[in-house]
Amino acid sequence: MEHIEPVVAWAQALPLPLKIVGLIVGVPFVAIVLNVLRQLLVPKDPTAPPVVFHYIPWFGSAAYYGVDPYKFMFECREKYGDVFTFILLGRRMTVALGPKGNNLSLGGKVSHVSAEDAYTPLTTPVFGKGVVYDCPNDMLMQQKKFIKHGLTTEALQSYTELMPPECHQYFAKELKLSKANPGPKTVDVLHMMAQLIVLTAGRTLQGKEIRESMSLHFAKLLEDLDKGFTPLNMMFPNLPLPSYRRRDRAQKQMSDFYMSIMAKRRTGEYDHENDMIQALQGSVYRNGTPLTDRDVAHMMIALLMAGQHTSSATSSWFLLHLAHDQELQQRLYQEQVDKFGNPDGTFRPMTFDDTKKLPLMDSCIRETLRLHAPIHSILRKVLQPIVVPQSLAAPSENVSYVIPKGHFIVAAPGVSQMDPKIWEEASRWNPLRWLVDGGVAKTADEQYTSGEKVDYGFGAVSKGTESPYQPFGAGRHRCVGEQFAYLQLTLVIGEVIRNFKLTAAQDEFPKTNYQTMIVLPLDPKINIEARV
Ligand code: HEM
Repeated sequence: MEHIEPVVAWAQALPLPLKIVGLIVGVPFVAIVLNVLRQLLVPKDPTAPPVVFHYIPWFGSAAYYGVDPYKFMFECREKYGDVFTFILLGRRMTVALGPKGNNLSLGGKVSHVSAEDAYTPLTTPVFGKGVVYDCPNDMLMQQKKFIKHGLTTEALQSYTELMPPECHQYFAKELKLSKANPGPKTVDVLHMMAQLIVLTAGRTLQGKEIRESMSLHFAKLLEDLDKGFTPLNMMFPNLPLPSYRRRDRAQKQMSDFYMSIMAKRRTGEYDHENDMIQALQGSVYRNGTPLTDRDVAHMMIALLMAGQHTSSATSSWFLLHLAHDQELQQRLYQEQVDKFGNPDGTFRPMTFDDTKKLPLMDSCIRETLRLHAPIHSILRKVLQPIVVPQSLAAPSENVSYVIPKGHFIVAAPGVSQMDPKIWEEASRWNPLRWLVDGGVAKTADEQYTSGEKVDYGFGAVSKGTESPYQPFGAGRHRCVGEQFAYLQLTLVIGEVIRNFKLTAAQDEFPKTNYQTMIVLPLDPKINIEARV
């Protein structure tokens, strides 16, 4: 104490401005020093997964992870192994890598891990209340079953007929390229694909009324919702910022819009269509409670958001690779000619069945999703301590790591999908790796897992939680839009390839933007030219 007293007296004697400056500079400095010393000197709990070294308390590894999550995860795996914890703006995130790591969170029990608790701050203000992550897990599983009822073979066949005309209309109105005026034209491929995906999903899944209303007003509502669906919103669900207010206004208007469509369909003012609204209206939970129109409206917003960015990102990456790989582009075009070409150089339309028999197209989609999985981090909140299997990671033979309650557990299937220990030339886009003897190879899911099927409440799906290839997730939260996404990608890309030649507009392949919720290409330009 006798040493500290003169220091305190000296500090008290300083003029006020100096005291303020001292506080502003001194407090963070002391906090950083204490944080570093604590990590270096304080003995660690042997069951706690290693913590990624960081200087700034609370902020933790936010910048390191945020700029390039894959670089962060591969580097941390080198240093700490397959299981490690990092600090992200006050949250403790425990990453579990590799197929076994994926299994720990994606295959985790509902009593141990919760997607609802992890995602609801981000999703509920955008989707609306009462559905998806704003209701018990059992209700979400039933909602997924209702969605599957809207994706029957009959519905998908009708969607197959509706999508190509939407593409042709877009090409004529927006690209304005023809045999007489072939171009080339430089386009932002992400912008182009976002439009094609929203128009085709609008006309099919979302229904005729939504497609007809895809005016500027609808586009503005979608944009405002989008701007409320960012990593910032995930971390801080309610800030007093204009973008948050616009998000809430757009959510209400969008939801009211769907409600008015349903009301008009009931009075017979609008025709019923074979679409998702039709499938969801009238669905009843097992306990006899019906889905309300408001629930349906919120589920429709959720589906719009779930499919829009994932599919526009995937199709953009796909076209970028084709623009940079002329040989593959030609092979893909030839596949269309061989299967659907007419003698006069035109193409016949595809049927739903046809879309499932295109080995090269299928391989290109798979490979694009392997290298550019739209979702880099899948999160769950830990509800009960999770013991990490020794075979995944362990501090010693007799001690296991335990992930404590309150942590977030992070699965990053993209890490296994790009792992050079699993894939030959892992970082190269090579769709041919999926082709064998003129057909498509088994998926990694089929190759690496037992094929075990599980019904989580929305129909039997392959468990797949230990697969090194999981672009659509695995386990109870596995995507229900996979079939629709494949159909949409096959048709939309098919139409682009039938009608246009693509070339690279930049020497370098575009870099990746990780600042959005979905992994997007950064400033992705291509040249597009009508086939003559
Ligand atoms: C869930 C990926 C398209 C609807 C998921 C998950 C992934 C994913 C990784 C699991 C999330 C988690 O476990 O936390 C993709 C990709 C797509 C795509 C890569 C396109 C290329 C779609 C489409 C729809 C859709 C078109 C709707 C028609 C859903 C739904 C869930 C889901 C409802 C379930 C959420 C849950 O159970 O927690 N998707 N998705 N997705 N996706 Fe997709």
